[in-house]
This record gives sequence, C-alpha cells and structure tokens, in this order.
Amino acid sequence: MTIRGFRGELLSVPRDPRGDAEAVRHERDGLLVVEDGIVIARGDHDALIGRYPKLAVEKLPGLIVPGFIDAHVHYPQMDRIASYGEQLLDWLDRHVFPAEKGFADRVHAASVAGAFLDELLRNGTTSALVFPTVHEHSVDVLFDAALDRNMRLLSGKVLMDLGPEGLRDTVDSARSESEALIRRWRGRGRLGYAVTPRFALTSTDAQLALAGELLAGHSDVLLHTHLAENERECAAVAARFPDAADYLDVYDRFGLVGARSVFAHGIHLNDRSCTRLAESGAGIAVCPSSNLFLGSGFFDFGQACRHGVRTGLATDIGAGTSFSMLHTAGLAYQAALARGHALDPFRALWLATAGSAALLHIDHRVGGLEPGQEADFVMLDDAATLLLARRTRDATLAERLFALQILGDDRAIARTYIMGECAWSRDAKRIS
Ligand code: GUN
Ligand code: ZN
Repeated sequence: MTIRGFRGELLSVPRDPRGDAEAVRHERDGLLVVEDGIVIARGDHDALIGRYPKLAVEKLPGLIVPGFIDAHVHYPQMDRIASYGEQLLDWLDRHVFPAEKGFADRVHAASVAGAFLDELLRNGTTSALVFPTVHEHSVDVLFDAALDRNMRLLSGKVLMDLGPEGLRDTVDSARSESEALIRRWRGRGRLGYAVTPRFALTSTDAQLALAGELLAGHSDVLLHTHLAENERECAAVAARFPDAADYLDVYDRFGLVGARSVFAHGIHLNDRSCTRLAESGAGIAVCPSSNLFLGSGFFDFGQACRHGVRTGLATDIGAGTSFSMLHTAGLAYQAALARGHALDPFRALWLATAGSAALLHIDHRVGGLEPGQEADFVMLDDAATLLLARRTRDATLAERLFALQILGDDRAIARTYIMGECAWSRDAKRIS
C-alpha cells in the first residue's frame, strides 16, 4: 500500500457547468492524496494536510487537471494526418483505406499502436475510445500496448462487410471475432470493449443487425460508430435507406441507439434525431478539427444543449489534425461560435474530461479527480511558450484556461500521470 500526496493548483469540472457554477472545483493551493493509484482525498492543502502527518508530498508547479479523454480517435490513421484534398468519402478511398490495409500485418499494427499511445500521453490524454481496423489483431495489439501503459482505453474490431477489397469481413467472421475479443479482454486492466460498425454505408443490413445483437448480448460493451458527418455521406445514407426517417433512424432500426451508444460528429442532425438521442441517453463525440479539415461543418452546440444531448470531445485523428485536446477545445469554442453559441472554457474543459468520461461510461472511474476516482492527471504549463506566458500573466483562472485552449498544445503538457505515476515528462523528454 502506497500513499502519496501531490500539492499544487488543482482544477476539475466533474459535472456540466452550464447553469451550475458549483461544478467548477478549484484549489489554488490544493492537495491530492493518492493511495494505490486512487484519489482518497482532495482539498485545500492547509485544511487537509493535518489528516496525513507522515504523507510524502510532491510539489507540482502548474495547473493540475484531470487527464484528457478523447472520445473518438482512429489509431491506424495517425500516419495519414494531413492527407491533402478531399471530403470524407473520397478521403477514405484515397488515403484511409490504403493505410488501414497495412494493418493486416500484425507487427506493423503493434508498432503504430505503441507510437499512438505514447502520442496520447505526450498530449495529456489518458483515456480514449479508439477505432482500430477490421483486423481482429488490431484490437489485441492496441489492448496489449494499453495494458503495458496501464491506460484506461476502449476499442473494438471494426465491422465493415461492405468495405473495400482487403478490408472486408463477413457477418459470421464479425460475430465470431467480436465474441472472441470480448471474451479475451473482458475484465483485463483498465480496458473496455466497443462494438464498432464503421458507419451505415460500410455494413450490410445483416451486419448492422449483428451489431445490435452483440450490443444487446453484452451489457458491458459500448456501441461506437459515425453519424451524420458530411453532406455527401448523408445523401448516400438517405439513398440507401429511403424508409428511414433520418440517419439516426437507420441505426435505431437495428437496435443501435441506446444509453451505451457513442456517435462521432452529428453535424447534420434534425430536431427529431436530437430528441431521440436525448431520450435514449446516446451521445455525440464532437470532433471540431476533423469537421473543419474535411469541410463537414460545425457542430451545433446550441441545438444539443436545447435538447439535452450528451456530448464529449474528440480529436478524430486522422481526419482530425491534432492530438491535443487543449487545441481541440479551442477549436470547439470557434466551431460553437460559428453557429452562434458561446462555449466557456470551463465547459470546454468539462467536455474534454468528465463529459467524455460520462459519454464513455467511465465517469465513476476518471474525469473529475474526485475521491474514489483513479489518479490520472496532467500538469499544464500556462507559460509554456513566450506568448502563453505573456497572455496568462496576471490573468484570471478563466482567462488562463482559455489561453491554454486557444494557444496551447502538446508544448503545454509538462507531465502526464497515470494512476499517480508519471507516464510522460516534457523535461525528461521521455515516456516513463
Ligand atoms: N466515417 C466512416 N469512416 C470514417 C473515418 O475513418 N473517419 C471519419 N472522419 N469519418 C468516417
Ligand atoms: Zn472517425
């Protein structure tokens, strides 16, 4: 049993702060007490330290926030970021599918998985919901690498029996491989499984129905897919499913819309879909850098708030252009403003931490730095660059946080801790 203390400026937003100012938790001189990787106490240092007279305390400079949670990201696409020129469907054909074919090679997949997780840690991201490829072993190597790093990660084999040659499974192989993966990985480390049909266009009706059966048969797994991202995609979905009320209804007809469903994007949603998302408890992983990069549009935060749709924040690498959830939060602010909605920096931090955690059903474990939760946290440096230092000097907490979101990126991540252990240190320039 090891008990350790971390003293520093603590900030977390465990609940949606919209209309709830109490949701922001801030201790200027705080103490986090961690026992075997779990936060057992948190509060003002001077008020708390008396209860732990022999505590070994490490002083942390900077602003300590919960580890970021990327609610939708593709690990096989990390080497295809910045592929020039097209919107979603052409971009998939020209850049993404050829890259994903390379994951038939297990050694290649394992090497990318390790590099990907290290890049998450370098950016302060400690948990993620991750798309692998159609290959069963693409999940095994990712989960192995996450186990090595003790990261809380969710993933599941991509289902795509209408995919291109070389990336196509079948209903039967999708069923047997998904069942085998769920059996093999259930209860191991900090991992979780997500049934992952790529999107409506890459699965037959029979495979979408299988995804619904898998979801219904395993109460501990998530459903992870894409929804209403890009105009041409939406038109193709409407043409293939003329009887469906809208894109979400396609998934609904196969039992894929429920409290455990995570849909990436949701750029083109009507009010009916938002009402249905809210009543079902399903939610949206908002991906602003990806939506800009592929010309998909801007997520309508106002509409989502009006309907009470659950939301989290995501990079969507490799359509997304940065691993940094700070940068992604800054773009979320700009995307929200493009549709007339003001996203304040505390709510953006909530989206990137506890909001994503709730979407992924891991909020009892991570996201708020609350007692009882796992001690995944990040040490932010609000003077990481000359410009940040100038902008945050004499600034309020809200101004510092906003500057970090607009001007910050991986350079502002001084250290990343996983369950109280330093997993990345910028000064040592290494993954611990
Ligand atoms: N829709 C289906 N597949 C993908 C993908 O790989 N990336 C994005 N952004 N959208 C998708
Ligand atoms: Zn995606």
